[in-house]
This record gives sequence, structure tokens and C-alpha cells, in this order.
Amino acid sequence: MSDSPSGSPELTRRPEWTALEDHRTDALPQPDLRELFAADPGRAERYVVHVGDLRIDYSKHLVTDETLALLQELATATDVFGLRDAMFRGEKINVTENRAVLHTALRAPRDAVIEVDGENVVPGVHAVLDKMAAFADRVRSGEWTGHTGKRIRNVVNIGIGGSDLGPAMAYEALRPFTARELTFRFVSNVDGSDLHEATRDLDPSETLFIVASKTFTTIETITNATSARSWLLNGLEGDEKAVARHFVALSTNAEKVAEFGIDVDNMFEFWDWVGGRYSYDSAIGLSLMIAIGPDRFREMLDGFRIVDEHFRNAPAEANAPLLMGLLGIWYGNFHGAQSHAVLPYSHYLSKFTAYLQQLDMESNGKSVDRDGRPVQWQTGPVVWGTPGTNGQHAYYQLIHQGTKLIPADLIGFARPVAELSDELKAQHDLLMANLFAQGQALAFGNTAEEVRAEGVPEEQVPHRTFRGNHPTTTILATELTPSVLGQLVALYEHKVFVQGAVWNIDSFDQWGVELGKVLAKRVEPALTEGADVPGLDPSTAALVAAYRNHREV
Ligand code: F6P
Repeated sequence: MSDSPSGSPELTRRPEWTALEDHRTDALPQPDLRELFAADPGRAERYVVHVGDLRIDYSKHLVTDETLALLQELATATDVFGLRDAMFRGEKINVTENRAVLHTALRAPRDAVIEVDGENVVPGVHAVLDKMAAFADRVRSGEWTGHTGKRIRNVVNIGIGGSDLGPAMAYEALRPFTARELTFRFVSNVDGSDLHEATRDLDPSETLFIVASKTFTTIETITNATSARSWLLNGLEGDEKAVARHFVALSTNAEKVAEFGIDVDNMFEFWDWVGGRYSYDSAIGLSLMIAIGPDRFREMLDGFRIVDEHFRNAPAEANAPLLMGLLGIWYGNFHGAQSHAVLPYSHYLSKFTAYLQQLDMESNGKSVDRDGRPVQWQTGPVVWGTPGTNGQHAYYQLIHQGTKLIPADLIGFARPVAELSDELKAQHDLLMANLFAQGQALAFGNTAEEVRAEGVPEEQVPHRTFRGNHPTTTILATELTPSVLGQLVALYEHKVFVQGAVWNIDSFDQWGVELGKVLAKRVEPALTEGADVPGLDPSTAALVAAYRNHREV
């Protein structure tokens, strides 16, 4: 990419960057994984890093020791660890919002001291955790009752983005640890069908709504919460006093919570130094804490902390988030990869990739640097994927034989969950056999000679050849416990951090979602009242007119 006069040139002009470009060009055609393994019998053991319960194998990457050393030099030159330390110290590294970035304080031990503007934030974190625990215990035991005195059996979290994806993902991930006698639902979409489907079979007198919104101004959440309030009051003879027993709020904005009509005693606080997509281990995790109980929730926080400490202290060559971040940069910036697949071989991680989409794409989907200058290099990838083995029967074809380079993470566990029957447990080996087979096939493929040797007719050989050399990271753990989930999430949080630091972008703002919000507010009267909205472009104006016509039919 060439520099524009107004662009931010530093990164691509750094000698560490050009050294990587030269290394990439010298290695053309790119290194062959068969050859790399043949040349280095220790590679499979050497290219593994252990963090907590995670075994992270990066041997199937298109890298050599030299590549890794050059990538680490880039990390040093861009001062990734300097920015990391500033983050952990509570400095305001979210420059466009002038905020500290301290999700790591959410899992700091009680006696830690982390200051923002001269104030230690850790006591406040633990005070909220304690308040959440007391409330969660009361709901779980049946002591917290609804307005009519019935115990709460249903918990509905209303939130969107970071106020939905985290708790919803973690609830699915930790289903085997949840109070099965309680029903949990997560409503996010402003499409009224979402709330309708979530509540249609629930009894209002047994239902608790958790309104989760950092700002408490998000239109989707406030609209759904208002409709949920009407649903509740309709079912409870309109008695406004019911709201206090059936609505709690998770927010940084007490004023707006009170304005909505929720008693601030029933509000669980967090702070502006927790980004929405980094918030599910804050008060935003209340629904999860009710589901799994405070002890399991604390185990999850301990898991986060294991990886925080690792990221903070492990040397560069064995630092898992650093390695994963740099490998992504190797493909995105030096091989033209546009996307990154996350493929969990666990049904319980069915929402994990959707969660990571916000974490990664809202953080690093940026095109100006921290000083506001257009960047002259690629930034965050498109993150996508669904659980194995379903993806194998859908899009893996393109990964294996398409024209695009798609680095992928394969995530699996040695043990199935305890509550499965013996017969279902036995399926676990088949599930994991698929994970290992995919990693192997992606890396080593099946050459034309091998295909011929299998007796395949010559005209079919090109169609049945797998070129291989598709890079994957394999992350293995014993089982999916609360701690392991915390470890996984923190691993990706810090990987995203590393990439943002190298690219010199602000990974903690999200101005790119604002324009759509403003325009939606402007367009709405055109739909509801047929109002003449100034500034609608001709295409959108025609669409609005067509919509109104269709609606009348
Ligand atoms: O999508 C923009 C965003 O601000 C996210 O960053 C955030 O997670 C989501 O909206 C919800 O915001 P809030 O928690 O303030 O309702």
C-alpha cells in the first residue's frame, strides 16, 4: 500500500515492517507445512504454549523461527507491552473517549490497587460483585419473590451488543453448570418478535427482567424494556408497584435508570472504564451469575485473571495473546487474508464466535490511527464461524479448496460434559476426531500424487487434490469449565489488544455505529407518520415509499 500525504505512514515505514515484507517475498512461494515439519522434528512440541488450562498449538502456521522473531521485533518496535502496561495501570488509553480501559480490574483480587484519577477502583468492583452475589443467591433460593409472592422462575436479560452477547454466550457455554429449574432468555433485537417469543409462554408473576445497558439510552434496549414493562403490568393488573420486584438494571447511568422507573437500589453498577464488549464479567453478567451461582462466577473471573497475569508477565516468545495477535497480523498484513474463522468443536460454544465478532470487529474495525490519520495498512479481520462439525458440511469446502486464505482457530475439549449419557459421551471421540482431521487436512492436504495413488481417474485428480497449507491454531483444554471459559475470553481480549496496539488504532471506541443510530431516528417518522424527512437520498426515499405501500396492502 502506498502512503497518502494525509495518511499515517509510520508503521509501514518501520524497518521491522519492511523486514517482514522482505521475509515474506523471500519465502515465495510461501513455506510449505510438509517441508517445515519434515525439516524440524521438534516443531509439534516446540510451537505450543500453555496458559492456565489451555494448550495452544501454533505449529500449523506458515511461520519459521525467523518469522516469529521478526514479528516479535515488530511488537517491540510498536511498544505493545508498553501500551499493555499502561492499560493495566489504568491510564486513559481509549484516547477518543479519554477513558481508562480496565476490564482487567473486574477480575482483580480484592487486595489489588488499581487507580483511575487517583481512586482505587478495586473496592467498588468487589462491592458490586458482593451485591450481585447476594441478589443471585436470593433469586436462586426463591427468597426473592415477585410482586404476588411467587418465586422467580424466569429471568429475561434485555440488552444488546456487549450487554447481550457476553451473558448469552456464557450462559450457553456453561449450561451444564446452570440452575436447570430456572429459565433464562436473552432479548436483544428491536424486532418485537424477539420479546414476543421470549415471553409468550412465561408467567409475568414469575418473571424477572434484567435491563442491561451501559448507557441506558440504547434505543433497542429501552424500547424492549418499555414493552416488557407493559407486558408485566398487563399480566399483573396494572399495579405499578410490581416493577420494583420484577425489574433490575445493570448500568453506569443511575439517572436514566431512575427516569425509566427502576429503583436505583435494584441497580448494579459498573463504570465508564469498562467497554461494552469487555463487560460480561462486570454487573452485565448478573443473569449468568444467577444461572451458575456466585461461586462458579468467581471461578470464571479467576480464569480471566490467569490469562491477564500471563499476558502481563510471560516473555514475548511464550506469550499466547501476543503470538495469536502477531500471527493474525502476519496473514492480514503480509498475506492479504481478509478474515479469520473461529471454529469451536463444542455445541456449548455455539455463540462464542458471534461474541468474538463484536469483541474483535467493533474493537479493530478502524481506519484511522490514534491521532486520527488514515491508516495505510489493513486492520481488523472479518471474524466468523460456527461450531464444528456443522461448518464442515457447509463452508469448509471453501476453506479447503477455495481461493482465499482463511486462518482458523480450532477449539476443543478432551472431556464431554459429565451429565451426558454414556452413549452420548462416546460421541465425543468422533467429534474430536473431526477436529484433528480438519487441522491435518487443512495443513497437509492431499497432493495430486497421493490422489493418483488412490486410483482416482486422471480427469478427477485436480478436483480431488487438496493443496493444504491452510494455517490453524488448535486450542485444547480438558473441559469447558467456568474458569476455562474465562481463560478463553481473556485470551481473545488480549489478542485483539495486541493487534490494535501494532496497528496504532484505538481499539476501545466504536464511533462507527453512531451514524446508523442517528439516521434510524431520522428515518423513523417517515415510516410511522409518512413525514417528509429532509436529507433522505433518492434510493432510500423510494424504499421508504415502497415499504409504506406494501404495509398498506
Ligand atoms: O454497538 C454499539 C454499542 O455501544 C456497543 O459497544 C455496546 O455493547 C452496545 O452498543 C450496547 O450499549 P449499551 O450497553 O449502552 O446499551
